[in-house]
Amino acid sequence: MTSTTDLTTSELTFPAGFSFGTATAAYQIEGAAAEDGRRDSIWDAFCRVPGAVIGGDSGEVVCDHYHRMPADVDLIADLGLDTYRFSTSWARVCPDGGPANPAGVDFYSRLVDELLDRGVRPWLTLYHWDLPQALQEAGGWVNRDTAHRFADYAQVMVDALGDRVDVWTTLNEPWCSSFLSYAAGEHAPGHTSPSEAVDAAHHLLLAHGLGVQVLRGHGRDLTVGITTNHTVADPADPDDPGDVDAARRIDGAFNRVFLDPIFRGDYPADVLEDMSWAGLGRVAREGDMALISAPIDVLGVNYYNGGAFAAPDPRVHEPLTHPGPGGLLRRSPYVGSERVRGVSRGLPVTDMGWEIQPDGLTRLLLRLQREYTGPAGIPMVITENGAAFPDVADAGGFVQDHDRIAYLRDHLAAVHAALEQGADVRGYLVWSLLDNFEWAWGCGKRFGIVHVDFDTLERTPKASAQWYSGVARTGRVTL
Ligand code: NOJ
Repeated sequence: MTSTTDLTTSELTFPAGFSFGTATAAYQIEGAAAEDGRRDSIWDAFCRVPGAVIGGDSGEVVCDHYHRMPADVDLIADLGLDTYRFSTSWARVCPDGGPANPAGVDFYSRLVDELLDRGVRPWLTLYHWDLPQALQEAGGWVNRDTAHRFADYAQVMVDALGDRVDVWTTLNEPWCSSFLSYAAGEHAPGHTSPSEAVDAAHHLLLAHGLGVQVLRGHGRDLTVGITTNHTVADPADPDDPGDVDAARRIDGAFNRVFLDPIFRGDYPADVLEDMSWAGLGRVAREGDMALISAPIDVLGVNYYNGGAFAAPDPRVHEPLTHPGPGGLLRRSPYVGSERVRGVSRGLPVTDMGWEIQPDGLTRLLLRLQREYTGPAGIPMVITENGAAFPDVADAGGFVQDHDRIAYLRDHLAAVHAALEQGADVRGYLVWSLLDNFEWAWGCGKRFGIVHVDFDTLERTPKASAQWYSGVARTGRVTL
């Protein structure tokens, strides 16, 4: 693949065949929470906990995609996007975490058919955080058996859709489903136990390994991968050894704790040490790492922001728990590095308060290529990148979101820079197609390139959708 930069017009050309698409997740858009046999997931239960989610929002109706799916597929196709990454709801497909529910499977079968009819490639993610509540009641990801139930669910899905879906992702952002969910308490099931978090992380990795095994067993040759989320952790002061160590710890607790087992078959020694008090790896059994590190075909990379980190300040004794979004008790997700401080660099931020730092994406891709995907000989795809901004819709629902266009443009330029420096990146999927349920933050944080009026459920493509459509159709980004 070759990419070019035209210096006279400042136009970046992506290589032929580079994919431009978009992504969503089941719980964030579907609604129809109790229809056609679907049962509660941990997010349905969590949303009912007072204070867990800002505004008491939930995925009960949200974008009502379940009833509007064909029109949403039209939106994707009309924008000229070639790939749609969606997730299947485990609680819809296997409502109690056990036997399959044919009506639930059928919804995704219809979705896949609609996509293929419109010439859009389906990219299926099996787990985007909505564990069946029945499995949570049996211990959730702290229980090793959940990984085996995941393999059963993967089998149901690949039996039903393996003939038509080529690209499969086992897990989306296992960091969130372990550390943010079991240590920080910010995500369902809202626990604040570091030792549960490290056990959950291992069982999620095991689920990935078992899922890969199931997908490989399918008759057709599928493209199989995992999506991990990343922060680019910089030391606040690169000359301060304490800050350098703080950045190392965060990098370990966020990035390497998953990447090393997947690509190298082991937890990194320093992370094992940082998290030893919580017991990282204690639930690992003989043979787990061989499963977890079985070769994959693509690494899905989610990137939103980086951060600068500093050594704990001995003069300040911050409490270990504090209220998070919605007010629920929260603690640090960084097990073993709880007192590391995030330091503002004064960069512009999105509506999430996340620093806008596109060059972090270039550095991330080059680092992943050098240390993980390059040696494994596999490509990367940006499976999520995007931004929430305080959008204002006009009377017709149209949003003139120059800030989002600038964010997407600068991050696409960052991907292009990584390509030029040798990173093997094959595509970019913008998060997200629609404004949706942003987890503990509720529906107030809008990431969509299409505006959703949550009262009328009307969809209106934003200026960013029109802009992105032009990029997808031409393969070019004008700076
Ligand atoms: C990553 C998650 O996969 C997605 O569900 C979420 O909405 C975005 N980050 C934005 O926070």
